[in-house]
Parts: sequence; C-alpha cells; structure tokens
Amino acid sequence: MTRRVLLTGGAGFIGSHIAERYVEFGFDVTVIDDLSSGRIENMPKGVRFVRCDICSDEARSVAASGFDILNHHAAQMDVRVSVADPRRDARINLDGLLNLLEGARAGGVRRVVFASSGGVVYGESDRLPHPEEAPKLPVSPYGVSKLASEYYLTAYAQLYGLEVVNLRYANVYGPRQNPHGEAGVVAIFSSRVRNGEGLTVYGDGEQTRDYVYAGDVARANLLASTQPVPPLRFLDDVAVNIGTGQEISVNRLVATLLDATGKRAPVRHAPARAGELRRSAVDPARASRVWGWVPEVSLAEGLRRTYDWMSSQAAA
Ligand SMILES: NC(=O)c1ccc[n+]([C@@H]2O[C@H](COP(=O)([O-])OP(=O)(O)OC[C@H]3O[C@@H](n4cnc5c(N)ncnc54)[C@H](O)[C@@H]3O)[C@@H](O)[C@H]2O)c1
Repeated sequence: MTRRVLLTGGAGFIGSHIAERYVEFGFDVTVIDDLSSGRIENMPKGVRFVRCDICSDEARSVAASGFDILNHHAAQMDVRVSVADPRRDARINLDGLLNLLEGARAGGVRRVVFASSGGVVYGESDRLPHPEEAPKLPVSPYGVSKLASEYYLTAYAQLYGLEVVNLRYANVYGPRQNPHGEAGVVAIFSSRVRNGEGLTVYGDGEQTRDYVYAGDVARANLLASTQPVPPLRFLDDVAVNIGTGQEISVNRLVATLLDATGKRAPVRHAPARAGELRRSAVDPARASRVWGWVPEVSLAEGLRRTYDWMSSQAAA
C-alpha cells in the first residue's frame, strides 16, 4: 500500500534529501514549504508542492487532508536569530508545530517524524558522545523550542495515540546545505576554498562537533517512517540520535576538507565566539541497535561531495 507523507521543509537542505528517498521508495509525497530559505529546484520530481507558512490555516487544512505520516522539518533554525528574537523562533517552531499537529490529528495521521537537534538539546558535559538519556539543558531559545517540541509530540502521543519519533541530529552537512544551519561551517568553508579565499577559525580550533552526512540522515528518516516505534514511558524512549559519535575539531575539519579536495587555503585565527559550545557529539548506538542504521559516508567523502556540488553550482 502506498504511504502518504506530508513533508514540511521539503524544499530545504535536509528535507530535499528526505524527499528524494521517499520518492525513490514509492511514497506519495506532499511538501509544504514557504521557500524562506528553501528552493523549489531542490525538490525531486514527483512531489506535490504547497507553498505556505506552517503557521497558516492553509497548512493546517493540508495536514488534515488524509496523510499516514507527518515528517516535520520546516523550522526557524538559526541559533542567533532565536537569541535576537525568541518570540519569532517560538512562533514558527512551536505555534507552527501545534498548527500542523491539530490538522494532523483531525486528518488521522498515524505517525510524526520530527527533526530535533542533538547539537542543542543536551547540556554541556565532558561525557561524550551523548546518549539519548543524557541531561537536557539547552542554552538557546532554538534549543528550548526543539526540546519543547519533543514534549508536545509526546503529549500528543499520549492524548491521541500518535506514534512519534524525535530524531536528534548531530551537525548535518552535504550538498544543498544552508550556511546558516548548525553545520553551516562546512558550507562556508567549502565555498571559500572554492573561491580561493582564506578560512577564519574562531579560538584555537579545537572545539568539536559531530558531522553527519545528509544522505545518511535521509536514510534514517525512511527507517523512522517505517519501523515500529517503542513504547513511550519517558521522553527519551522515542528519541533517536542520528550522528557518528565522533568529535571532529574545526582544525581537523579544515585539514580533511583541504586533503579531500586537494586544495590549499590560508587559515586565520580570530577570537573565540562567546556562548559557543566547546564540545558536541551524539551517540548513535540506539539507531544502530533498533534499525541497523550506521553512518555510511565518511567525513572525507562527504566533504568531497559537498565541495563538488558547490563547484557545480558555481559553474552553472
Ligand atoms: N542542519 C543541521 O545541521 C540540523 C541539525 C539539527 C536539526 N536540524 C533541523 O532540521 C530541519 C531542517 O534543517 P535544514 O538544515 O534542512 O534547514 P533549511 O533552512 O535548509 O530547511 C528548512 C526549510 O523549512 C522552510 N521553512 C522555514 N520556515 C518555514 C515556515 N514558517 N513555513 C514553511 N516552511 C518554512 C524553509 O524554506 C526551508 O526549506 C530543521 O528543523 C532544523 O532545525 C538541522
């Protein structure tokens, strides 16, 4: 039986990779996106597209029109915007989610897959990588809106029997990525290397992140859409980290990018940025145990693909 899926944010970076996978696996895909950062040409052929804001009445009626799965990726996802304007962040990320959920439950949606963030919901700790049960302590309004969204979803699961999977991504990178996102540094560095420009590293460059390739993330979304959901007793029961578990420093990221692309670029150090997490990585053991999901694309290969895509865009 064909599964009907409503994918929000499907014209964006991660959403477009998920849309490709859904189409490839025969899902009937409708995308909602307001194109505020997404691009229509990101989407694969074969998806139905509705251009609207997730906070609108139109989005709620679309969500109510008979889908099996709601996959929610549309978001305000710039940490700095959330700090400067936390009400805007909450309007899109919380009111937008509730608007869709009200439509989804009226329309009989059975499962919701949500793009949460392991980079922002966990607190700072020396015990890395974070398992799903690690303490939560977001430092930004964006992190709070992701964690609050997870709580709203588990409340809907209990109230209305919705199946919920909260995917907590590490820093996602790859072709079509947005330089303002959590792994924006890959897009920025790739573009600067391509243009023969220097790279700026803040602080000593030993701060770490966990970089996961967008194609691997799309594969995890397919599993989250089709595999059984565990019983819900605690918030973390229905959360799944999607990352590599490896901490990569900015210095190593630069070295791997230059090595993988065979390019050179001068590196300049600037003062460390206030409020930046020192270390971050998520433990993907649960995804591996329950779904057999493991990241397949190495950092070097993923960076090369991202760089090649950026070069092809610039050439076009
Ligand atoms: N990129 C990462 O490293 C990362 C990490 C953790 C979580 N996430 C989450 O994954 C999701 C996708 O992120 P991305 O990196 O692909 O970003 P993106 O900006 O490329 O995609 C977001 C999409 O949502 C659309 N959108 C934004 N506001 C909207 C609104 N009000 N109504 C309708 N559409 C709207 C945008 O036009 C865009 O196409 C987000 O929820 C983000 O918080 C991303």
